[in-house]
Amino acid sequence: MTERQAFRFAGVRIESIRNLSVVDVEASSHANYLFGFNGSGKTSFLEALYLLGYGRSFRSGSLDALTQRGSEFCRVVARVDAPSAQVTVGLERRSRSWSGRIDGAPVEQLSSLFVSVPVLCFDPASSMSFLSESESRRRFMDWGVFHVEPSLLPSWRRYNRALKQRNAALRLGDGSSAQAWVAQLAIEGERIDSARQRFMLGMQRCITDAVSRLAPALTGVELKLRSGWMAGISLEEFMLGNEARDLKLGFTAGGPHRADLQIEWDAKLFRDVASRGQAKALSLSLMIAQATWYHGLRGVWPVLLFDDVGSELDAIHQTRLREWISQSNAQTWLSGVDRDSPLLPAKGARFHVEQGKITRLI
Ligand SMILES: Nc1ncnc2c1ncn2[C@@H]1O[C@H](COP(=O)(O)OP(=O)(O)O)[C@@H](O)[C@H]1O
Ligand SMILES: [Mg+2]
Repeated sequence: MTERQAFRFAGVRIESIRNLSVVDVEASSHANYLFGFNGSGKTSFLEALYLLGYGRSFRSGSLDALTQRGSEFCRVVARVDAPSAQVTVGLERRSRSWSGRIDGAPVEQLSSLFVSVPVLCFDPASSMSFLSESESRRRFMDWGVFHVEPSLLPSWRRYNRALKQRNAALRLGDGSSAQAWVAQLAIEGERIDSARQRFMLGMQRCITDAVSRLAPALTGVELKLRSGWMAGISLEEFMLGNEARDLKLGFTAGGPHRADLQIEWDAKLFRDVASRGQAKALSLSLMIAQATWYHGLRGVWPVLLFDDVGSELDAIHQTRLREWISQSNAQTWLSGVDRDSPLLPAKGARFHVEQGKITRLI
């Protein structure tokens, strides 16, 4: 195994994130398992790693709740083994805003920090929100697009800005101002849509492969991109044609901001036919597929987080995941209540989490 085939957190320092006052961890380059009682701080630790890749949490709720009660800031700093070098990334939240550093130098756009630390997470809540919220499914696609085509970010910003402006005009009933934004929305929106189509093309193969390795009972699952507007016509045509309706609604009803990832299973909607357990197995497969897709294009694995996976997956899925973890070069972080985990490969590191203190076991 060469070090450069994966992004890895080598060392992590956390300050004032939930019940973690000051925590320093030296990680294993392969698998890392954190165990401890409920409320000891395992999820908070994974949350801190996740922050470096997203600037938000995988848990719902306000970002302000991340900062330890009584503290004015929270911070996470990590040495990351990246493909070309080791970099130190840091993210701090103070007065309700983030600031980031790479190798000590402040970053202008936090996105440049996020793109340098690709992280994926499987956790109890996200596997269910994936079925119920189109927002989660859009994020799934857009993580892929963002990490492989970060050059598209300005398009996204321009699209969102133009969308806001058009919506403001629509709310005021000002059709001609609304129309003035359509050309830009169409150009940027079509770009975003094409990138999502490229992502989906590669994803289908990855999901088929991930399902066969992790959840063969789900064979036949297919992912389909719904662009967010009527198929077969350009976004510009669509928006101009729907102006009267949008004026009535007071917002832009269709476009890439309404895109969705439709999940079908034997030609039916997955959410209509799947059990809770199957939904979790699919969510796990999607995460592994996304990691595989990223690795296929970039030649490097993202860091993978699995929160409380032992209580989420049944024995057979855990066994398959263990196989996957031990065969892959990705750095993984797992959490659980028991001292030992069937998911941890022999060479992995174990950490005991106790009331916000984390100790590595030899
Ligand atoms: N802002 C905060 N300040 C201090 N403690 C917090 C804050 N937010 C959450 N906590 C506490 O942090 C502890 C750790 O929670 P968590 O990481 O979810 O534990 P685990 O995943 O090990 O069950 C909990 O006891 C929780 O009440
Ligand atoms: Mg937890």
